[in-house]
Amino acid sequence: YRNCDGLIRPDTKVYGIIGKPVGHSKSPLLFNAAFKSVGLNAVYVHFLVDDVEKFFNTYSAIDMTSGCSCTIPHKEAALKCMDEIDPIAKKIGAINNIVRRPDGSLTAFNTDYIGAISAIEDGLRELNGASPATGSPLAGKLFVVLGAGGAGKSLAYGAKQKGARVVVANRTFERAKELADKVDGQAMTLAEIENFHPEEGMVLANTTSVGMKPKIDETPIPKHALKHYCLVFDAIYTPKDTRLLREAKDTGAVIVYGTEMLIRQGFEQYKNFTGLPAPEDMFRELMSKHA
Ligand code: ATR
Repeated sequence: YRNCDGLIRPDTKVYGIIGKPVGHSKSPLLFNAAFKSVGLNAVYVHFLVDDVEKFFNTYSAIDMTSGCSCTIPHKEAALKCMDEIDPIAKKIGAINNIVRRPDGSLTAFNTDYIGAISAIEDGLRELNGASPATGSPLAGKLFVVLGAGGAGKSLAYGAKQKGARVVVANRTFERAKELADKVDGQAMTLAEIENFHPEEGMVLANTTSVGMKPKIDETPIPKHALKHYCLVFDAIYTPKDTRLLREAKDTGAVIVYGTEMLIRQGFEQYKNFTGLPAPEDMFRELMSKHA
């Protein structure tokens, strides 16, 4: 890794992604290109980390990390090492973006929910022809989340924050109930969702792994039930075009790809690290070139 001058100097800011495994992450590629494009004296590296507490204790306030991204399996365990946590990230119980303040303290965010929710909001605006200035198009919407794992929590809390009415449907009802109670929502089983259509124009977000490679013929909800939704989002990005999204498109819904959540969470991380807007076109181009 090299900074914008092709060097690493004592004053070069070091960012990175902590995880295990981590070598496959494309984040260094994106962030290093972005730093270089604006002449930032910074690098972004892979950190293969076993013990997240040891990592933060070793690289303390006076050390080399200016901030980091956080991936599997550390998104929950890293919480206890933070000095400050974004309130929604705290509720979700997972962080993926950590910024070191000039005083050495660590502030954490969850940009996954921001990425997904902003992509869904833009999809709805496209549908309504509304401008971003008119507030969130999710306000008052009936928002159905399929799944109650980490991604389900992100979507449910994110939608609730925007004023949506949340329904959580999960294979295991108890998990749906636990999450629904936290967002003043309604819980049901995944099987029940097929016959749930109290109104038209609902929003659907799949966060289950149903339809993920290699089981690409599966879908979490039958096609006929999709006609009650105006927008369908799938957090799955392998494959990009899931059966759910193909059928939703056929039914006439606006569709939002999981890749959009992935890329937008990166935009948010870059903003938090640098205080600058993300070079969105460059990120998109690199992602598609190296997919
Ligand atoms: P993530 O962090 O990606 O959300 P997770 O916490 O493992 O992953 O959650 C996976 C979700 O997919 C859960 O909601 C799970 O349902 P259960 O709570 O009943 O386990 C759901 N899921 C996984 N495989 C499924 C399947 N074959 N059918 C229906 N739901 C499934």
